[in-house]
Amino acid sequence: MKIDVFTLFPSWFGWFLEQRHVRNALELGHQVEAVDLRATTPLNAGQVDDTPYGGGAGMVIRVDVVEAALRARWGSDPIEGRGSRRVIALAAGGRQLDEALAEELAAEDEVALLCGRYEGFDERVHEHLATDVVSIGPYVLAGGELAAMVVSDAVLRKLPGALGHEDSAVEESFSQALGGAPEYPHYTRPAEWRGQGVPDVLVSGDHGRVREWRLEQSRRRLR
Ligand code: ADE
Repeated sequence: MKIDVFTLFPSWFGWFLEQRHVRNALELGHQVEAVDLRATTPLNAGQVDDTPYGGGAGMVIRVDVVEAALRARWGSDPIEGRGSRRVIALAAGGRQLDEALAEELAAEDEVALLCGRYEGFDERVHEHLATDVVSIGPYVLAGGELAAMVVSDAVLRKLPGALGHEDSAVEESFSQALGGAPEYPHYTRPAEWRGQGVPDVLVSGDHGRVREWRLEQSRRRLR
């Protein structure tokens, strides 16, 4: 798959792209690139934002600036091409990211992530250029960059081969294998730590009982 991240701070993504599971995905032929929204602005002096109509604090990223960036990147009119890829505007007020949305995006060939800054995007970006508006939680970040990394991380780790260990993404929190419940607890050595042991069943060697115990623990965490 291909993820294009449109941002005013492309250098933030250097660190993210270095991370092991992201590098694994890139080595498998997937692409993640940060695209500088300012590089293609049709305005003078690198301007990308403007004051809000109706007044108020802060600046708003202009729709013509976003349009120019998408057009330059894809070589076609982003309105005409709407629907051929998922275009996600990141905003605190959007649909909250969950495992189901991450699964849905991992099945796409192309995803674009639009990172807002200041007061966010002109509403026409949400209405006419984006296919979705997505939030990573009910709190306000200074911009969409960290949200874009969170979305990319949740999506990339679902791609076959990205984690290195195939089973790790199958039976994890919110997965189908656990009926959408949070994952069961894990323990490792030492078997005894400051008087705290580990559940006997896990060292019983009885795989059937281990499995039952884990499913029950997972179900309990739903409550
Ligand atoms: N931009 C600012 N806050 C955000 C959030 N919670 N999720 C996604 N994008 C954002």
